[in-house]
Amino acid sequence: MHFVIIGASRGLGAAMVDECLKLSDAFVIGLGRSEKREIENISQWELSGRFRYHQVDVACEECRAVLEDICKVLPSEPVCVIFNAALLDPDVSDDGDLVYDTYHATSMVVVVNFGHVLDVFGSHLRRNNGIVVGISSTIVLAPLVQEKMLAYPASKAYLTAALRSLRMLWRDQVRIMTVLLGHVGNKKFRKMPSWIVPSYETTAKKIITATQREFVPSRLFYPYATAAAYRLLGLVPDRISSVIFRRIRILLRFAMMLSMTLDMIECGELLDFCDMLECEEMM
Ligand SMILES: NC(=O)c1ccc[n+]([C@@H]2O[C@H](COP(=O)([O-])OP(=O)(O)OC[C@H]3O[C@@H](n4cnc5c(N)ncnc54)[C@H](OP(=O)(O)O)[C@@H]3O)[C@@H](O)[C@H]2O)c1
Repeated sequence: MHFVIIGASRGLGAAMVDECLKLSDAFVIGLGRSEKREIENISQWELSGRFRYHQVDVACEECRAVLEDICKVLPSEPVCVIFNAALLDPDVSDDGDLVYDTYHATSMVVVVNFGHVLDVFGSHLRRNNGIVVGISSTIVLAPLVQEKMLAYPASKAYLTAALRSLRMLWRDQVRIMTVLLGHVGNKKFRKMPSWIVPSYETTAKKIITATQREFVPSRLFYPYATAAAYRLLGLVPDRISSVIFRRIRILLRFAMMLSMTLDMIECGELLDFCDMLECEEMM
């Protein structure tokens, strides 16, 4: 199967490239703005002979020509297009002002690019019973945690709603899966248990495995605990759920710090750290 992964240069996108290439018949076409030299595993991917990378900003109109070139070389068989690209930057300042450039760029990645993807790949997907995977977020269920973001949750809601409509419009022609993710990837949350924050690798495996099932699920919630919490909190008024979210975050931070301290004690690093502080005080 051919996979087109939009946003493949790092994070979950890169982990999905790794996971796809484990399938012996997979050919992967990845897109991203990063230069090839900035991509960690690219030499390994290219060595497989089953990976091609296009450096392009998918929020720009020029991206369309790149997508058309990709579509021309796709075989007449089911292809899986994974819409993963997103910008996760805050677009509201501490004073509450809109940071317009970030707001615009974040919206464009989804709004402009998703339209191009559907327009360019649409007939191929419908003719060949293709698969569309949209990487969304649990933030659309209870959009309260990342308060400094406006366009990000809005763009995810847009993607989720568009996929929902498409599922009806392209029924029996294209298999459509919306992935609603909670926190994933251990960059920021290294000390969290994996059932709360699973790694990019585990998440990628879940997603790619689901695309290989005979019946591709229409929605995939992951990790399950976060998804369940967001679904429940989505039912209560926003003011209340935001207070609950804040409390949960404080608790999680505390648990993370405790676990790091215990690790340091176990490795003797805490004593070294205290010795170092004492020495500095004496100087
Ligand atoms: N991580 C989480 O906790 C989490 C939670 C919920 C949902 N998600 C969703 O999961 C997906 C992956 O998240 P992540 O943590 O892997 O994010 P990430 O590390 O920021 O990766 C985003 C990817 O999108 C690409 N991208 C962004 N803007 C682009 C543009 N204009 N043109 C081309 N490529 C672009 C980036 O490549 P370049 O920088 O090379 O352009 C990168 O490959 C996103 O859709 C995100 O919304 C993540």
